[in-house]
Amino acid sequence: MSGQPSTVSELPEWPRYGDEERTGLIRALEQGQWWRMGGSEVDSFEREFGDYHGSPHALAVTNGTHALEVALEVLGVGPGTEVIVPAFTFISSSLAAQRLGAVAVPVDVDLDTYCLDPAAVEAAITPRTKVIMPVHMAGQFADMDALDKLAADAGVALLQDAAHAHGAQWRGRRAGALGSVAAFSFQNGKLMTAGEGGAVVFPDEELRERAFLVHSCGRPRTDRDYLHGTTGSNYRMGEFAAAVLRAQLTRLDEQIALREQRWPLLSSLLAEIPGVVPQTIDPRTDRNPHYMAMFRIPGIGIERRRAVVDALIARGVPAFVAFRAIYRCEGFWMADAPDESAEAIAARCPNTEQIHSDCVWLHHRTLLGTEQQMHEIAAVLADVLAG
Ligand SMILES: Cc1ncc(COP(=O)(O)O)c(C=O)c1O
Repeated sequence: MSGQPSTVSELPEWPRYGDEERTGLIRALEQGQWWRMGGSEVDSFEREFGDYHGSPHALAVTNGTHALEVALEVLGVGPGTEVIVPAFTFISSSLAAQRLGAVAVPVDVDLDTYCLDPAAVEAAITPRTKVIMPVHMAGQFADMDALDKLAADAGVALLQDAAHAHGAQWRGRRAGALGSVAAFSFQNGKLMTAGEGGAVVFPDEELRERAFLVHSCGRPRTDRDYLHGTTGSNYRMGEFAAAVLRAQLTRLDEQIALREQRWPLLSSLLAEIPGVVPQTIDPRTDRNPHYMAMFRIPGIGIERRRAVVDALIARGVPAFVAFRAIYRCEGFWMADAPDESAEAIAARCPNTEQIHSDCVWLHHRTLLGTEQQMHEIAAVLADVLAG
């Protein structure tokens, strides 16, 4: 960090909005019915979002964590069952399973893509395994070919945690067209957002109908007699969120196209910096929305990484330390966890151990910046690391 410190010129803000969101909010307001049972925004959003992802069977819910919970519940997860989750993920992947009384079993991820390692999954399957939950990290699909086969051979379900994968494509197909359930988040930082929100896209209407009951206190849409034929909770999205999300969906293609242009440039510039290794993109993910620009600095260690992230932020780069390994979070151990110590899990998750201590991510709004800003970001990182 010698001489005049370099900085990055002001990057685009997030979230973004315009007249489409304004019009949508007024439209929802003036309907006079602000919940989904009376209005039409949530219904319309479900149709549009589902179609966009290759399945007409979408259900909008309160947030991405609840999307996973509802999906797991209809897939039969509960006490006595196990759900295989990546050890390197946001904690909701495991929390959702644990909230249903299941054991969340963390397994290792690939060192290059940061997604579930199929060999580690295979080793973790037991007679209690009900669901395998790949996370499409930063928009990069987990190896869906290998995981589909593993799941089919073991007779268990796949649930895609697609919280980062709006519009992503695996060999030409989007998450809803891959034959398994996919859960999305619309939290403030996500690729499309209403501040909070979530959706589940199902491969068939029967599962979607069961999920509808779960998300609406066990009550069918037509029920006027408080029958509550099944259990559940209130996970319903409101009309205002849906109106905003309909507008956000119309912006997604253009933003993905821009990020797909910027990432190859930024990652090649980052790769030139000694000690920096960008996330590898598996080319079978032939459309990548780039929810995060992720890279590793192998061997940096947790403390120095924090200092690097702070220095990046001070110079105008929206940087973050990557997720903590879930088995290194206290909350993970407060619910149903495997009968193993954290150290034993760490020993069988060597890649997660590295990534959780050396990985940094940049907000996707960086990839909405100019080519010049990609150069500025790389220059700042080189400068910070040289310091
Ligand atoms: C991988 C992953 N799964 C699930 C979620 C949960 O989504 P939400 O915050 O909408 O509950 C998030 C992030 O927020 C996430 O990153």
